[in-house]
Amino acid sequence: MSDAALQARRNVLRRGLKPAVFMLCLVPLVLLVARGFANDLSANPVEFIIRTLGDWALRFLLLALAVTPLRLATGWNEVARLRRMLGLFAFTYVVLHLLAYTGLDQGFDFVGLWNDVMKRIYITVGMAAFALLLPLAVTSADAMIRKLGGARWRMLHRLAYPAGVLAVIHYFLMIKAGYQQPTVYAVILAVLLGVRLVKRA
Ligand code: HEM
Repeated sequence: MSDAALQARRNVLRRGLKPAVFMLCLVPLVLLVARGFANDLSANPVEFIIRTLGDWALRFLLLALAVTPLRLATGWNEVARLRRMLGLFAFTYVVLHLLAYTGLDQGFDFVGLWNDVMKRIYITVGMAAFALLLPLAVTSADAMIRKLGGARWRMLHRLAYPAGVLAVIHYFLMIKAGYQQPTVYAVILAVLLGVRLVKRA
């Protein structure tokens, strides 16, 4: 294949990458809605919805955190263009997770929700993780990067690290048995954050 043809193919792949990943990120939500329409949300639909959205929130957060290590390991710089989108999907799934809990579980009883935040430690920790992600979502636009300046913006966006740690703790605290799944997430998170520490050392 000629250089020009190769370059043209690379450009098509480059342009297609973001829309393709965007569509993939919607798949868990579409499948959840489809299962809802098919009345296939297990014996406890509310719990199923909250848990599915929570799982995907955490997975997207880890995927967003995996972008930089993947770029460093492979030299595939294009992947950096996906980081913001993956982070915003993590936030979207967290908001839906929180909405499902507040609406479907608590019937939009905000006093009840506040009592839960105060009483149940895993909810407190989940809320703290959400609070850390909020400024990241708010400042994700290009205009905000310009306004804050690159260095300050990057510093602020390091809040994703403690948010990931709190999200995994939230998972550990909410379960009473069967710690395999959160342990897998904890190990992945430790590797993703460890790579950053080693890189800085
Ligand atoms: C960064 C923020 C958060 C992440 C990544 C997250 C993630 C998760 C994950 C992975 C689970 C376990 C799912 C499973 O068992 O398969 C979970 C459960 C849960 N989360 Fe979150 N969560 C977050 C914030 C919150 C917040 C703010 C609330 C509510 C105020 C909340 C309420 C719950 C509840 C109630 C469950 C248990 C559902 C049940 O078993 O009935 N989470 N979350």
